[in-house]
Amino acid sequence: MLVLGIETSCDETAAAVVSDRREILADLVFSQTALHAPYGGIVPENTARAHLDHLDSLILEAMARAQIGFADLDGVAATAGPGLIGGLLVGVMTGKTIALTRNLPFIAVNHLEGHALSPRLVADIAFPYLLLLVSGGHCQLLVAEAVGRYRRLGTTIDDAVGEAFDKAAKMMGLGYPGGPEIERLAASGNPKRFDLPRPMIGTEGCHFSFSGLKTALRRKIAALPNPWEPQDRADLAASFQAAVGDVLVDRTRNAISTFRRLHPKGDSFVVAGGVAANQTLRTRLEALCADRDLRFAAPPQRICTDNAAMIAWAGIERLKLGLSDPLDFAPKPRWPLDPTAPPAVGAGIKA
Ligand code: KG4
Ligand code: ZN
Repeated sequence: MLVLGIETSCDETAAAVVSDRREILADLVFSQTALHAPYGGIVPENTARAHLDHLDSLILEAMARAQIGFADLDGVAATAGPGLIGGLLVGVMTGKTIALTRNLPFIAVNHLEGHALSPRLVADIAFPYLLLLVSGGHCQLLVAEAVGRYRRLGTTIDDAVGEAFDKAAKMMGLGYPGGPEIERLAASGNPKRFDLPRPMIGTEGCHFSFSGLKTALRRKIAALPNPWEPQDRADLAASFQAAVGDVLVDRTRNAISTFRRLHPKGDSFVVAGGVAANQTLRTRLEALCADRDLRFAAPPQRICTDNAAMIAWAGIERLKLGLSDPLDFAPKPRWPLDPTAPPAVGAGIKA
């Protein structure tokens, strides 16, 4: 089974061809970062236009690299939410058009499910598993019970963790995306130099909060005579990353207890999403799993940040279960994995 995957939910235009035997025949990502840099951030209208400009040729190139024709495909999967509506419309309309003209099934993929199932693209990981989904827009602990069935244990009550990395990097005068920059600097920094808060640590449950950490970092920077002094900046990055690591480990520890209660036989923990590309955070979570006798899994870095291979794979998982979507499926800017989850306490909750 061969599926074309399309990803346009944020600022990466991506197309990939993947087989049900886990072969990634093509995996192309066009990052719009440079395009948006002059505007100091993402302008939704500009992202949608950029997707429109690049998606067609990217799909053709993916098909050429995979050395297949459209007639060889068994389905077309496109991210249909959550995300910016302009980009989603571009991807979904393109996917539907290919499906319609080639008489192929169309699969509307939830971007978060793409991340959630991504470890299964590279390894045998059976349901149920505990999932930490950490990206620029989301920070959640979930139990993945089956394709299409997720139980949310916790979410952020303010910023997503990737967003916190990005904002911290901006405060430190670093570029976007901030996560990789902070990780690079942190490698030569002292994680104990700056005393930063660890929001929510020690409290019950699995919710997250990062806004206090961000504010504390801003104060530390303001108190420095020359914050761009290389060692100061490296120490700030290392201290910030260490605080984030402590929060993720603490919240995940609680989630492991709940997971064990819900699924005594569940044996795997998975971390996915852009922030899962961070090697220091991975190592810390891996150590926690070793301590708790859980198998640890994380997709390779390339599959952590936004890509279309994970979307194609989510399409394959759904197709294998006989699931596909009608051509009038409307993209959903907001599309929680667990619509039944009660809201987290506090304002500005991300589902
Ligand atoms: O999954 P993703 O590509 O897009 C969303 O769905 O949001 O995640 C992007 C986020 C950005 O906030 C970026 O700063 C963060 O992932 N990120 C990292 C690293 N690489 C990417 N955060 C920490 N360390 C990294 N190495
Ligand atoms: Zn993502």
